[in-house]
Parts: sequence; C-alpha cells; structure tokens
Amino acid sequence: MYSYKQLGFVNTKEMFKKAMDGKYAVGAFNFNNMEQLQAIISACLDTQAPVILQVSKGARKYADQTLLRYLGQGAVEMMKDHAKERNLKEIPIALHLDHGDSFELCKSCVDSGFSSVMIDGSHFSYEQNVALTKQVVEYAHKHDVTVEGELGVLAGIEEHVSSDHTTYTKPEEVQDFVGKTGVDSLAISIGTSHGANKFKPEQCTKNNDGVLIPPPLRFDILEEVERKLPGFPIVLHGASSVPADAVKLINDNGGKLKDSIGIPEEQLRRATTSSVCKVNIDSDGRLWMTAAIRKYFAEKPADFDPRKYLEPARQALFEMYKHKNANVLGSAGKA
Ligand code: G3H
Ligand code: 13P
Ligand code: ZN
Repeated sequence: MYSYKQLGFVNTKEMFKKAMDGKYAVGAFNFNNMEQLQAIISACLDTQAPVILQVSKGARKYADQTLLRYLGQGAVEMMKDHAKERNLKEIPIALHLDHGDSFELCKSCVDSGFSSVMIDGSHFSYEQNVALTKQVVEYAHKHDVTVEGELGVLAGIEEHVSSDHTTYTKPEEVQDFVGKTGVDSLAISIGTSHGANKFKPEQCTKNNDGVLIPPPLRFDILEEVERKLPGFPIVLHGASSVPADAVKLINDNGGKLKDSIGIPEEQLRRATTSSVCKVNIDSDGRLWMTAAIRKYFAEKPADFDPRKYLEPARQALFEMYKHKNANVLGSAGKA
C-alpha cells in the first residue's frame, strides 16, 4: 500500500477549486513512457502550470504498473530538482487513472499511489453506473483520493470501449448522479470524441481556404449542466485538436492518415472559461511524436540510436504542452 502523499502527488481537489475560480482548466496528459513524461513535466514546470499525469489501463499493461508508479514518483523528484536549480516554484502534480473500468482496477491504483481515479461507467445502464461509481468513491475517499465519473458516451475508439456514436450527457441526470455517487468531478459528452478522427468530412463545412470546420461543441448542454451543478468541476475528454501541421508532417513523410479532424482550439478555450476544470489530451501528443520521428527517419534513414530520434520527438511534445497550457487551457502561471 503506497499513499500518493508519500510519493509527492496531490489530489485534484485544490487544483479544481483554483481552476474554477480562475476560469482555466488543468491539462490532463497521458503518458506511457519516459520521453512523454519528461516532456510533460518540463513543459509544465517551464510554464508554471499544474498538471494531471494520466495513466490508462493500456498504459499500465504496456509499461508495467510498478514501473509507471516509479516513473511518476521520479517525475515529481525531477520537477523538484529542476525547480530548485532554476529558482522556479514547484508545480502540483496529480497521478490519475484514465478510464478505469472496474472497482478492482480503481482500488489497485488507489493502493499503489494514485491521487485520483476515473471510473468510467458510461457504457453501463444509469443505475449500474451509479452503483459502480459509488463503490469506487466510497473506497477512494477513505484514502483522500479524488474520483471522476462519466455521464454520456463519447464516440471514438479507446482501448477497452468503442462507440461509433455520441450520446450527449442528459443535464437532467447530473444532479442525481453527483448526489448519489459523491464524485468529485464529472466527465460529460458535448461533442468531443477520442482519437484523431473526431468528425467525418461530411459533418463539416468548408471555409474560404477549403479548410474543414467541424460542427461546434454543444455549449448549450454544458451551460445547462453548469446551471444544475453550480461550481462543480466538469471534465472534457477527447479534447485533442489534431493539428493540421502535425498531420501534414506525418503524411509528407510516408504516413497515411486520412480525414483527421479535431476540436478547434478556440472552442476549447471557450470551454475552459466555464466550469470545465480538466481537459484530456492524448492524441495530439501521439501525432506530434509520430511526425517528429517520421521526419527524422526520412532525413536520416541510416540512423538507429533511439536517443537520436526520440530527442526531437520529446522536443516536439515539450513545445506542444507549453502551447496547450499557455494558449488553450489558460493554466500557465497558475501553479
Ligand atoms: O481515452 C483514451 C486515452 O487516449 C488512452 O488511450 O487506452 O490507448 O492508452 P489508450
Ligand atoms: P484525445 O484522443 O482527443 O486526445 O482524448 C484523450 C482522452 O480523452 C483521454 O482520456
Ligand atoms: Zn478519455
């Protein structure tokens, strides 16, 4: 049994309170390896932004759950050393389970040092979602670990659940859900989705330059949720913007990505000034990492030292996370 407090993490309570008051959102960035983690921590320290490190069930399987915990703990220590060397303020870091799908998985994360867990019961019936989420909250709160629940289904493919359609969150359910479960934050479905193909081209309109513009997010639903749950932290999953530059770099260097469309950054900026306190971004990092590595190999096909091609990938991630904090989430300077 490890307590996240001993490892140097914080839960999301204070982070979300400050984000709500300051009208910004905390970036929740997924990591599966050392380079992603280094880029996230360095970018957030540089921009003096709080951060939520996210680990999915797939990440735990890929990188080993014990190693991941030590990586997370190491990231806190690295942040402290770098903050001291550079005379910067230390930043708050949460270690969060992304899309937990069972009580056992959430319990295992609480027991191994996570400071926050998500129980995603959105694919179950409402009653089952309530019962499962409540069970996780009861256990997690005994250890001062915060819990994120979800209502409504996002389209897109995740490791364990996939849906080809969106079921928007029903605002009339949110009060009952939060009241019955005791969750600390709620992920809602307002038109975002997972992955790099969030919209089909036929769902979009074209601007004068021929660029595809996706349909706007359902801000009406978000506003209704805010009215039902004033001051309650809301989470946006599937919030990658799928930058055209990254997609072009991938495809110019041998990639074959098709119809890659994300959430425009202006829409996300608008969302972060509401009660959205946490914004999940994974795919944009995957895209920039792939773009940098493809470019590297196209230019230097004879190289084979992983440090050579992972260094520009890490640098691309570093720039991207700084951009998100400073220009999209508004979390820069809020550590
Ligand atoms: O929402 C899902 C995240 O992007 C994590 O994806 O399950 O493939 O690690 P993953
Ligand atoms: P993206 O696929 O849009 O990056 O969403 C990530 C996410 O929601 C992780 O939980
Ligand atoms: Zn998600």
